Amino acid sequence: MCGIVGITSTKNVSSSILNSLRKLEYRGYDSAGIATLENGIIKEVKCEGRVDALETNLAKQNLDGNVGIGHVRWATHGVPSTVNAHPHSSDRVSVVHNGIIENSTLLKKLLIKKGYIFKSQTDTEVIVHLISDYLKKNDLKNAIIKMLKRLHGSFALGIIFQDQPDLLIGARRGSPLAVGYGPNENYLGSDSYALKSMTNKVTYLDDSEFCIIKNDNVEFFDEAGKKINKKILELSKDDKEYEKGDYKHFMAKEIDEQPMTIKNCVNEYIDKISNSINIYNFPWKKNDLKSILLIGCGTAYHSCLMAKYWFEQMTNLDVNVDVASEFRYRKNKFKKDCLYIFVSQSGETADTYAALDLCNKNKVKTCSIVNVVESSIARDSKFVLPIHCGPEVGVASTKAFLGQMLVLYILCLKLAKDRKEIDKKILSSKIKSLLDLSKNVKKTLLTEDQIQLVCKSFADAKGSMFLGRGFSYPIALEGALKLKELVYVHAEGYPAGEMKHGPLALIENGMPVVVLAPRDEYFKKTISNMQEVIARGAKVLLITNKSKDEVVHENIWQSIKVENTIDDLLPFLITVPLQKLAYHSALNKGYDIDKPRNLAKSVTVE
Ligand code: AGP
Repeated sequence: MCGIVGITSTKNVSSSILNSLRKLEYRGYDSAGIATLENGIIKEVKCEGRVDALETNLAKQNLDGNVGIGHVRWATHGVPSTVNAHPHSSDRVSVVHNGIIENSTLLKKLLIKKGYIFKSQTDTEVIVHLISDYLKKNDLKNAIIKMLKRLHGSFALGIIFQDQPDLLIGARRGSPLAVGYGPNENYLGSDSYALKSMTNKVTYLDDSEFCIIKNDNVEFFDEAGKKINKKILELSKDDKEYEKGDYKHFMAKEIDEQPMTIKNCVNEYIDKISNSINIYNFPWKKNDLKSILLIGCGTAYHSCLMAKYWFEQMTNLDVNVDVASEFRYRKNKFKKDCLYIFVSQSGETADTYAALDLCNKNKVKTCSIVNVVESSIARDSKFVLPIHCGPEVGVASTKAFLGQMLVLYILCLKLAKDRKEIDKKILSSKIKSLLDLSKNVKKTLLTEDQIQLVCKSFADAKGSMFLGRGFSYPIALEGALKLKELVYVHAEGYPAGEMKHGPLALIENGMPVVVLAPRDEYFKKTISNMQEVIARGAKVLLITNKSKDEVVHENIWQSIKVENTIDDLLPFLITVPLQKLAYHSALNKGYDIDKPRNLAKSVTVE
């Protein structure tokens, strides 16, 4: 959450900082700001709202200087406003900050006693005054070391100084931070995406490290001040700039890209000639594993839940699923014969990372399924399976969800095969069906016109429900999450068979209800549950797959039929109309689809 960029150069830096902030807007977009050092004076331009508003302010008030920092904010302490926007500055230093300083209240009291005056409600301002205070009696490096010692919590910092015309400090504890290298200039960014337009050479700071960045040199230290050597990595070429093209929104583009991203992922993991699975370097043997624990947040958690059904069906492994923010604080019994699988699009989600870190500290087997291969979660997992989706910019995760499910499904087939828990012929037919998945998703995208007919009802309703059983239950949760985050209406995903234990009381005349009833083993049961809600006045949108036998019920409001495939893969297809439903309902309302209110793409605070 929040984005940091810093540049020290021989040229004016404010326009490059502004460009990088645009890339970082996916991390937070409620306020933004830049500070530079102009002729020995720290100057700031800030605003409430988006980077566009910052650009307007910059046009009114020029910001020169060869060293500077910028920030996009997702508010934690203090409302989104110009005064709470970062950078926060004193005469001596200016600071941008991601994360949370947990002991800021106490530090603030102590600093107020010393005579420091606070302008904002943020926790960040304590950092400004702490450094200023330590600089009175210490050199710059020691002031940083002493300041870091006083901070509790997880954070990433970018700092410039009034008396250092070509120097920038970066510090990391918990929140990610990267350094980039350019000709006669160097950079700081909260992720490599921010730096990509300027360089493909980066170094990632690890936990509890800081760096001193100059135009021609970067030095790294641990928090005690001991110098450390770090590797410079080259970012892959396929990570090129990602644009909207002819689409109005990234989300629309990302939904439509799914046939292609599925194809890429299948090509990566399936050998079409031998009809086998290409996961060769899996570090554990079949007898090493007795159970699996899948961990993620939000949409990634839903893909974990989906995988539980597949793993249970095809293997004898014990399978559990956990929300990362719960797992990290429970009294877990870490098991040596359990594989802990972390699923995350960004690979930077704070709760998922903390859960992984906990597992690493307890020396158990860790594997991650990520989209961003340079991410913290990927770097710190023992084994990584990328989903090969390309950048996902829309805050609402779409193609990454299908990518996560796909890699989990392929991993499940691999383990089932290695453990000899799946019949060879069945395995081979499942792999064949996988080869058709891209084509089937493409055809299912054609349901868009039908979705447009129903979206107004969902957008205008005070609430809706998404029901499914078995494989369709995690998809019901995902469909409801998409509608909530984009359309700001209450939507609840529920196991269809559980309705009569309480939520049925919510059903009233005209309430839109999505019933996910593909023709799998749960079909008949789900149709019975559908009849129960119709009987109580619900307007049912039935999502099923094509079949000769019609689902006959005179009171079904609308039905959408996806393509046919094996039962295991139907969840991929029934997801597509739900993504389109959320997209068109939000479009109907005129909401900001790629940047829904109160949210951010990468959740790097807990
Ligand atoms: C999905 O639409 C959400 N924006 C959100 O739930 C997201 O999936 C979650 O924050 C996890 O992110 P990650 O996959 O990057 O870890």
